[in-house]
Amino acid sequence: MRELKVVAPELRLDPERALDGLDWTEVFGEPGRVEIEIGPGKGKFLVEAASTRPDVHMLGVDWANKYLRMVEGKALRAELKNVRFIRIDAKEFVHRAVPEHSVSAYYVFYPDPWPKKRHHKRRFFQPPTIDDLSRTLIHGAYLHVATDFRGYWEHLEPLLDAHADFERQAAFGSPEFPVPTDQPLTNFEAKYLVQGRDRFRGSWRRKDA
Ligand SMILES: C[S@@+](CC[C@H](N)C(=O)[O-])C[C@H]1O[C@@H](n2cnc3c(N)ncnc32)[C@H](O)[C@@H]1O
Repeated sequence: MRELKVVAPELRLDPERALDGLDWTEVFGEPGRVEIEIGPGKGKFLVEAASTRPDVHMLGVDWANKYLRMVEGKALRAELKNVRFIRIDAKEFVHRAVPEHSVSAYYVFYPDPWPKKRHHKRRFFQPPTIDDLSRTLIHGAYLHVATDFRGYWEHLEPLLDAHADFERQAAFGSPEFPVPTDQPLTNFEAKYLVQGRDRFRGSWRRKDA
């Protein structure tokens, strides 16, 4: 694949270096709370969440340069200082790059559903990746998930509910959730709501040690 020009090199992490393990203070230039959005796409959620909370560091992880360029452009126009991006497979990233118990929230909204059975192994939510999410979340921190695809929800919801480290929340969201949950969270969600598609959302809290 031809590598497209990076819009904002100062916002983009080097995937090769990241896989040796990240130091968040080095990444963001200061200590602070770190939250990760897996697959931000066009970036509506990430940009809004970062704009409303300049003291929170947000990292967008996406393997599509097309989307990263779009969201980096929005971040530059909004003059956001608290965002970074990385182009990488999110499963590998969470497995190898993210330090243990260092993340204050994961957001995974409308991940690719890979509906065909022979492609299910490509889905982000698999038992080893769920273990990696648990291992890298701070105790008491949250994982927030949304999908429009019933088959994917029926796959991931029981895995998360049954995981010993996660506690299902009665309602989607958390006390620190950065934007109103009754408004469309992401570009896909806004589009799907207009189309009247199903919406499944859930939040799980990483249990205390
Ligand atoms: C269906 S889009 C949803 C985008 C956004 N979350 C939204 O709701 O508007 C899925 C996004 O996840 C990214 N993605 C899918 N699988 C990925 C993977 N394994 N690693 C990194 N990014 C991935 C895609 O490039 C795309 O940006």
